[in-house]
Amino acid sequence: MSFVPYDRPVRAAFIGLGRIYDLNVRAYAGHPDVEVVALVDPSEERRAQRRADWPGARTFASAAELASSGIEVDAAEVLLPVALHADGVAELLGFGWHVNVQKPMCHDLWEAQRMLDAAKAAGRVLRVMENYLFYEPLRKLKAAAGSGEIGEVCGYHIKMVGSGGGGWDVPWSSFERQMEQMRRGRGIFVFDDGWHKLSTALWLFGPVREVRAWIGNTAVGPGVDLDAPATIVWEHDNGVRGVWDITLAMDMYLRSDYYTNDERWEITGSRGYARVNRCTGRGIQQPSLEIYADGEMRGYHALDDDWASSFRDSGRHWLRWLHTGDGPLLWSGDEAVDVLRFALAAYASSASGGAGVNPAQVT
Ligand SMILES: NC(=O)c1ccc[n+]([C@@H]2O[C@H](COP(=O)([O-])OP(=O)(O)OC[C@H]3O[C@@H](n4cnc5c(N)ncnc54)[C@H](O)[C@@H]3O)[C@@H](O)[C@H]2O)c1
Repeated sequence: MSFVPYDRPVRAAFIGLGRIYDLNVRAYAGHPDVEVVALVDPSEERRAQRRADWPGARTFASAAELASSGIEVDAAEVLLPVALHADGVAELLGFGWHVNVQKPMCHDLWEAQRMLDAAKAAGRVLRVMENYLFYEPLRKLKAAAGSGEIGEVCGYHIKMVGSGGGGWDVPWSSFERQMEQMRRGRGIFVFDDGWHKLSTALWLFGPVREVRAWIGNTAVGPGVDLDAPATIVWEHDNGVRGVWDITLAMDMYLRSDYYTNDERWEITGSRGYARVNRCTGRGIQQPSLEIYADGEMRGYHALDDDWASSFRDSGRHWLRWLHTGDGPLLWSGDEAVDVLRFALAAYASSASGGAGVNPAQVT
């Protein structure tokens, strides 16, 4: 695909105006390189709610109505429910729009292939955005691992506790969609939030050659199941091993401006360690990044550790990319398929009682 960078503001449309719009919009607000020309959502309530943000934009109940309206669109910011990603993204690419779609890319490899094929056929760019790769404490963690300041990397650990109390309001319809996804074997922890954790693993240490998993189930209400406790371990091509434990703590209150995730990343090196203490929620309220080496601990107190900033910076990366065509997309469609394969390998391993699975061989 030959991409011609834009030398004028990109004309963008938001497709889906739900909960996460509140954070994705931060990249677009006040940005001189983009003009938001349209807002699309079948919900009249959502359209009315978001219209005030963009007085110059028109609103539509469907992308097809927008496409036939005569309004010129260059790129779509796609915030659709995951079950609609494959069909929705293929449709938008078919209209000739570049696409920045939220994670997870989709549920299955055949859906991913459909999206890649649609991008190729249309000659348009497909990006699957991953905001965690733009969270400043995680970026510094990656830099610390690469700099040698904690010595040679020996291994690492990711922790995720899903808690029941605190955080912002999530529409009941979003929960229902999560439960539907869970029934399709793609749980909220391992697959939906897990997409971020697996992304950071690939971003930190590269391709993974073997995954072993033990994915549990907890019924928290009639017909409401959650995919915890779960433990997933893997080995990268470079020999570094990672382990991720997922725990459910239903009665725990966790202070958060967003979702109530208590998250940590800790890389152990031959001389010390580097640890990100929190991300989405405000679990451990020490500096968001701490680095220990040679008997000394350094705390980073002045990082931009508001989780929402990672959405702003991921979106700006996309807008900058559309104006330069330069550097990695984080993620391209193909790279996002590697994340999907990682998750599918975990499911395959768990189903086989924990046997090692190579993500490249998942079918
Ligand atoms: N990066 C992150 O951390 C993060 C966090 C939450 C959600 N997400 C992702 O963002 C996406 C949206 O999630 P959400 O939490 O905002 O969901 P949501 O349910 O709050 O919003 C989805 C919106 O899409 C609208 N919609 C449904 N069908 C549509 C159609 N055909 N055309 C246009 N709009 C349509 C709905 O009316 C709703 O307003 C999902 O892919 C989700 O996985 C990412």
